[in-house]
Amino acid sequence: METVTVSLGDRSYPIYIGAEVLPEVGGLSRSFSLSGRGVLITNPVVGPLYSQRVLSSFEQTGIALTPLEVPDGEEFKSLQAAAALYDRILPLGLDRRSPIVALGGGVIGDLAGFVAATFMRGLPLIQIPTSLLAQVDSSVGGKVGVNLPQAKNMVGAFYQPCLVLSDVRCLRTLPPREFRAGLAEIVKYGVIADKAFFEWLEANAAAILSGDQGAVIHSVETSCRIKAAVVERDERDEGMRAVLNFGHTVGHALEAATGYSELSHGEAIAIGMVVAARISCQMGLCSEEVPFRLERLLQQIGLPTGLPVDPENIVNAMGYDKKLRDNMNYFVLTKDLGAVTVAPILDPLQALQSLR
Ligand SMILES: NC(=O)c1ccc[n+]([C@@H]2O[C@H](COP(=O)([O-])OP(=O)(O)OC[C@H]3O[C@@H](n4cnc5c(N)ncnc54)[C@H](O)[C@@H]3O)[C@@H](O)[C@H]2O)c1
Ligand SMILES: [Zn+2]
Repeated sequence: METVTVSLGDRSYPIYIGAEVLPEVGGLSRSFSLSGRGVLITNPVVGPLYSQRVLSSFEQTGIALTPLEVPDGEEFKSLQAAAALYDRILPLGLDRRSPIVALGGGVIGDLAGFVAATFMRGLPLIQIPTSLLAQVDSSVGGKVGVNLPQAKNMVGAFYQPCLVLSDVRCLRTLPPREFRAGLAEIVKYGVIADKAFFEWLEANAAAILSGDQGAVIHSVETSCRIKAAVVERDERDEGMRAVLNFGHTVGHALEAATGYSELSHGEAIAIGMVVAARISCQMGLCSEEVPFRLERLLQQIGLPTGLPVDPENIVNAMGYDKKLRDNMNYFVLTKDLGAVTVAPILDPLQALQSLR
């Protein structure tokens, strides 16, 4: 089992990554002096596959978890779903050391994390991410929250878990499109912070796609290390954490412009990353090699890289991006593979049009 530590003073925590490690979670939680009762929050897709192993592992350490299911889907990452969970948790008579265990993808992790952050002003949170995106992104860094009907991730908190356990064996049941979405974020980490990792991905993409356990573990571990290093320097997203948004300015706009149905998040950011790299190249920030190799790797993974809508539609949707500051669109731009900078783009429409 590999361990990545997120070092945040008294809010530091370990991320354990391995294969067939679900049964270890109870034992790993022993050092947190948890009380004997807690809840497991999951959904009807993930629960039947993995709950039992988690419940028995906690049972063996003397902790009885009540399993609670939330229907599957982003629309249930809502205040209503959180309120329904409070209603079901209240009669269980939990105390301040009762753990909330999140078992599922990023939707369950964000929602259960929000409930853990708020119920009784905060209960210990254990994240067991089961999608690749959740293992490399949403479970790391402590952002928890829910959507409002008008805007995604609008209500939430920074609330670090006491432990994250990623079992890559869970990824075998993940739909391939969801797996590729996680890979888009993994490629992102190589581009923003680690050229050697990007090159390792170029050499090992086929192994990862074929489910090679060692390759998947290495890519999850390296991604968590990179995200942890960014979060350690900017826990509350006041500056440097913006680099994690590479590919997301255009990516979010594409998701909005295509009605959140045509493109998955991973597909949208794959296109967004290539656009950002090409704009960087055009501005003279990097060589042609950067967008070329990025596009080649994403295509090898099976992700799209071409713009599916007109630049006008993207720029219109970009106006609503949360990351808009001083009325300017800030882009994360590439200086090289493994090195980025954040800069405003004065005329995003012109920049996008010139790529055609
Ligand atoms: N908190 C953060 O920092 C952060 C970062 C990135 C994304 N997010 C959030 O994460 C969410 C997206 O996460 P996601 O991509 O994991 O989506 P998701 O949670 O909807 O999971 C995708 C699908 O895969 C299913 N699934 C999950 N694990 C499975 C498994 N092992 N086997 C079979 N099916 C499985 C889920 O039930 C769901 O149907 C969004 O709400 C996004 O806003 C949060
Ligand atoms: Zn993303």
